[in-house]
Amino acid sequence: MTTLKAVRGTRDLLPPETALWNRIEATARSVFARYNFGEIRTPIFEDTSLFARGVGEETDIVSKEMYSWADGERFEEKKMIAEWIGKNQSDDPSRVQAGRINVQGNPPFLTKLNALGVQRQVYRGIAHGPHLTGATELVSFRPVVSTEAIADLRKARELAKSDQSSQLQQHRIDLRLVVPASAPPDLWVDQGDVIVERFDGQFFASSQSLTLRPENTAGVVRAYIEHKLGETGQLQKLYYIGPQFRRERPQKGRYRQFSQIGAEVIGPPSAGSESPLRDAEVLEMLATLLDELGITGWTLEINSVGSAVDRARYNEVLRTALVSVAPRMCQDCQRRAVTNPLRVLDCKVPEDQPIIETLPKITDSLDEASKAHFAAVLAALDAAGVPYVRNDRLVRGLDYYTRTTFEFTHGGLGARNALLGGGRYDGLSEAIGGPKAPGIGFAMGEDRLVLTLQSLESAPPQVADAYIAPLGENLNPAALALARELRRAGLSVELGDGTFRLKKSFEVADKTARRIVILGEDEQQSGILTVKTFATGMQTKVNRAELAVYLSTPASE
Ligand code: HAM
Repeated sequence: MTTLKAVRGTRDLLPPETALWNRIEATARSVFARYNFGEIRTPIFEDTSLFARGVGEETDIVSKEMYSWADGERFEEKKMIAEWIGKNQSDDPSRVQAGRINVQGNPPFLTKLNALGVQRQVYRGIAHGPHLTGATELVSFRPVVSTEAIADLRKARELAKSDQSSQLQQHRIDLRLVVPASAPPDLWVDQGDVIVERFDGQFFASSQSLTLRPENTAGVVRAYIEHKLGETGQLQKLYYIGPQFRRERPQKGRYRQFSQIGAEVIGPPSAGSESPLRDAEVLEMLATLLDELGITGWTLEINSVGSAVDRARYNEVLRTALVSVAPRMCQDCQRRAVTNPLRVLDCKVPEDQPIIETLPKITDSLDEASKAHFAAVLAALDAAGVPYVRNDRLVRGLDYYTRTTFEFTHGGLGARNALLGGGRYDGLSEAIGGPKAPGIGFAMGEDRLVLTLQSLESAPPQVADAYIAPLGENLNPAALALARELRRAGLSVELGDGTFRLKKSFEVADKTARRIVILGEDEQQSGILTVKTFATGMQTKVNRAELAVYLSTPASE
């Protein structure tokens, strides 16, 4: 059997790397708390239309990268039965065929048969007038092959054989399970004597299209609307940490399941949600967070994509400019030139870049109010001493952005160098059916923070404060009691096992802990333990009452 592996683009995070993830999350939570943000947790899947309407149909994320599926699918058993009978019917009554005939029997028997999901009106056998002759099959129609369906068929056969009234009693009864050809493979089900038939056709009626969230802003705004958070009249300052899903081509720093740490500031305009000070405060918070994480050498790139009106105007300017050049561009750009010209600027095809360079800039389409807003954001950043670089091509790959857009990049990440991205989204709430609720936010790629930190520092191996080595199996219970005592005192403790010889205990302890505590009969009786510190090679006797304090002193002392 082939061994199962984590799905392409997903991965397991193991210790000691997970310690770094936890440190990043703890630092983020502590910074968010100081800026008075509260945590929001939204579901990891949402109605597909949330992303189509929020993020935008023409974006790469929505048009190419979402994990979507039809949910609440109802298995249409009747449709399958009708099609199956149609396919199996023959005009020749002496041939094996399927049909509808009321299997004879008393009502309780027939009710039980139906309860087992075995169709009493469907048979495969040879019809002889209204009766069945020869071998007969009991047929069950199910959405998947399951142990339960197989068991039910076997029970039905027993029932038919034992029920005096059953017309099937005299027959050889075969069992048939019909499932849609699209049903998942039946890896663990023992089919035994049951014929499993995979039948071609569409036998599911779907009700709702769902999508694993490719980002969290749309979900947060959906929750803001659903819980009427705008009615509080307050600014909502919300942060989240969690997995996102995009079917991108996996490479270092780009995964199909990745984690984002993000935050959003959103509220009614009367709460000051449109103020450029909010933009600057979010950016200043990010600079602080990166500093506290120990990430140095980042660059903040910033731009303004203007108001919704500015963007619409720019889209038309672009549309006109693209008429003559689009035919020389890639297929995607040719389509975007018509449907959503702004998205041409996301194009990654190298041959198209010189053409994109010649296109008009969004900065030239901003009206006075947007220009003033942007100038105010930059002035506040200057005052706070947050360095930035203006990048007038930075439009970001999501349709909801208005005015300020930004990215923090880091050289340590190579080509996929965006550590985080964000911006203002003043019309998003209305686009998904909510009240006017301007907002600004960002999301950091946690996987990329980890990579960056790993490129900056070498992580210390994870070691426990102490390893307890009981000298003999009879001391195992006492060792557990001692470990409990020390762990409750806040120490990290690795518990050895008395079947190990002392030499092996030392070997294991040296790899997993800073110190080894020997627990032999003598130590148990006297309450004085032998402790060795590996870094210094020093061995000493410590009173049990002082052990916790001794073990918490740095191992170099
Ligand atoms: P985004 O630019 O699509 O924005 O993603 C934000 C960050 O998530 C990126 O800068 C990157 O660090 C990380 N990221 C994206 N895709 C992947 C991937 N496949 N693998 C690893 N990391 C990835 C948003 O998601 C917006 N919701 C940000 C926002 C919040 N705007 C306003 N509020």
